[in-house]
Amino acid sequence: MATSQEQLKQQAAQAAFDYVKEHFKPGSVIGVGTGSTVNFFIDLLAEMKHDIEAAVSSSEASTERLKSHGIRVVDLNSVSELPLYIDGADEIDSHMRMVKGGGAALTREKIIAAVAQTFVCIVDKSKQVGRLGNFPVPVEVIPMARSYVGRQIVRLGGDPVWREGVVTDNGNWILDVHNFDILDPIHLEQQLNNIVGVVTNGLFAQRGADLALIASADGIQTLK
Ligand code: A5P
Repeated sequence: MATSQEQLKQQAAQAAFDYVKEHFKPGSVIGVGTGSTVNFFIDLLAEMKHDIEAAVSSSEASTERLKSHGIRVVDLNSVSELPLYIDGADEIDSHMRMVKGGGAALTREKIIAAVAQTFVCIVDKSKQVGRLGNFPVPVEVIPMARSYVGRQIVRLGGDPVWREGVVTDNGNWILDVHNFDILDPIHLEQQLNNIVGVVTNGLFAQRGADLALIASADGIQTLK
C-alpha cells in the first residue's frame, strides 16, 4: 500500500523527535516552527514537556498547540541561546536552501532561524526539489506597500498574486510570487529584501537548514 503524504509528514516528525531526544540539553529552550508537519512534531514533543524549559514559537497557531500540551512558550527576546529549531518547508534543495511561508509564518520563522544554532528541517519527499521556485515564493509586505512591491517584483521577473484575506500574525499581507527563475537563491533573497515595504521573503538561502530529515516510502534520508 502506498504511503500517504500525511504518513510521511508523521514519519518526518518522528525522526525530528528522535533527534531532539538524542541532542536536546535538558532545561534548554527549543524553537518550534509552523505547519502540518510541525503539528505532528508538537504532539510528540508533549512527551518531553518536563525536560523542556520552554519553547519559542513561530506562530500563534503553534503557540496555541504547544500550550495545549502544557509546554510553556516564551518570548524570543527573553532567550539568549537557542540550540535547536525544528521547522518544515515548502521546498528544499540539495544545499538545504528552502522556500517557506506557505502557512504565512515566514517572518517569525526567519527570525527564529537566525537565532538558532541548529536548524533541523523536516519534510516529506515531495518537498525535495532540484531547483527552488516551483512553489510560489511568499513575500510578507506592509499593507500600504502591496502594489508598489508587486510592481518591483514584476521587474525582477516574478508574477505576484495577493493572498487575499490572509493577514499575518504581524498584521501584514502576503504576495505569492509565481514563475521566478531562481538560479541564484541568495541573490534573489537579497533583491527581495531590498524592496521598500517588504518585511521578509520566503527564500531561506542565506540561512538555510543545517540538517534535513526527509521522509519517503524508503525511510528517512538525512542531509547535512
Ligand atoms: C509556514 O509558514 C511554512 O513555512 C511551513 O513550514 C511550510 O509551509 C510547511 O508546511 P507543511 O508542513 O504544512 O507542509
